[in-house]
Amino acid sequence: MSQFWSAGVADLTPYVPGEQPQMQRLIKLNTNENPYGPSPRVVAAIREALGADADALKLYPDPDARRFKQAIATRFGLDVANVHVGNGSDEVLANVFQGLLKHDKPILYPDITYSFYPVYCGLYGVAFETVPLTDTFEIAVDDYLKPNGGIIFPNPNAPTGRVLASGEIERLLAGNPGSVVVIDEAYIDFGGETAAGLIAKYPNLLVVQTLSKSRSLAGLRLGFAIGHKDLIEALERVKNSFNSYPLDRLAQAAGVAAIEDEAYFDETRRAVIESREALTSRLTALGFEVLPSKANFVFVRHPAHDAAQLAAALRERSIIVRHFKHARIAQFLRVTVGTEAECVALSDALSALLGAT
Ligand SMILES: Cc1ncc(COP(=O)(O)O)c(C=O)c1O
Repeated sequence: MSQFWSAGVADLTPYVPGEQPQMQRLIKLNTNENPYGPSPRVVAAIREALGADADALKLYPDPDARRFKQAIATRFGLDVANVHVGNGSDEVLANVFQGLLKHDKPILYPDITYSFYPVYCGLYGVAFETVPLTDTFEIAVDDYLKPNGGIIFPNPNAPTGRVLASGEIERLLAGNPGSVVVIDEAYIDFGGETAAGLIAKYPNLLVVQTLSKSRSLAGLRLGFAIGHKDLIEALERVKNSFNSYPLDRLAQAAGVAAIEDEAYFDETRRAVIESREALTSRLTALGFEVLPSKANFVFVRHPAHDAAQLAAALRERSIIVRHFKHARIAQFLRVTVGTEAECVALSDALSALLGAT
């Protein structure tokens, strides 16, 4: 705290990202990255954008990221006016909270969800109310059919991995015609059904996706929102009042290549899904309760072993998973689905730890 800080800065509670340790030979299953790396076409596109002598970097990038927006629009059968892009979906979400969710009535989101949402509410002064998940950690649409200033949640939810069926999302949209409903689909490509097909029917629907997970580009920071052009216009106004060039030249070129390489995308997401199912079986056999997941992570607890202690013991074996201190989920661990070998190493380590106590 310093006399030089602007008013309100001392009251902010910043988001705490998952650890990015520099240790070598680590099995890193804590921040839901994709173990397979991006499409080879992405690397080629970056080389091409860089040019022979990196001279291209002296010029500003396209402020509207038109080629990237067009690739997204084409994939979803939409128009460029239906697409907003940002520096990771975190930035897209920041624009959403500022541009679409700040109203007199509180917005609604689940009690257990992506922990950046309360941070944005604090930053932008957005009123909010949390809605408890059911006892089985599911979103109950009926709980969201009440006056609100907007609704946001991830589908599949994080960190639970549980998915809400698209019929239920439609019921939510139809029941909230006066509110923006934001579906954060960071993990949708690992087995859920995107709500993008409902955009033409519901002008209050905004779908947010990222290239960090299913397209393995967490390091380049690429995210987007799709929805009715009036919603997108609000996001563009906020973006152009803050940073005209959130996506650099290399990221834009990579984004186009990643979206266009459907074959690689399908192959790698299938591999993650297969490993998730195998990991679920092995952890269940070890006595863990594993919530049904449609994401690239599983959320697990053991009836006889403390989650924080298990996380610490795994860390001693160079395996990092995520533990949240939130009371309701303090006995859970969130485990990213790694390569098959990493998943086997994790379940072997847990097997040894459980046997040893
Ligand atoms: C639910 C959810 N939304 C959004 C994000 C942000 O992803 P990115 O900023 O990498 O696009 C994450 C990251 O873990 C997430 O879990």
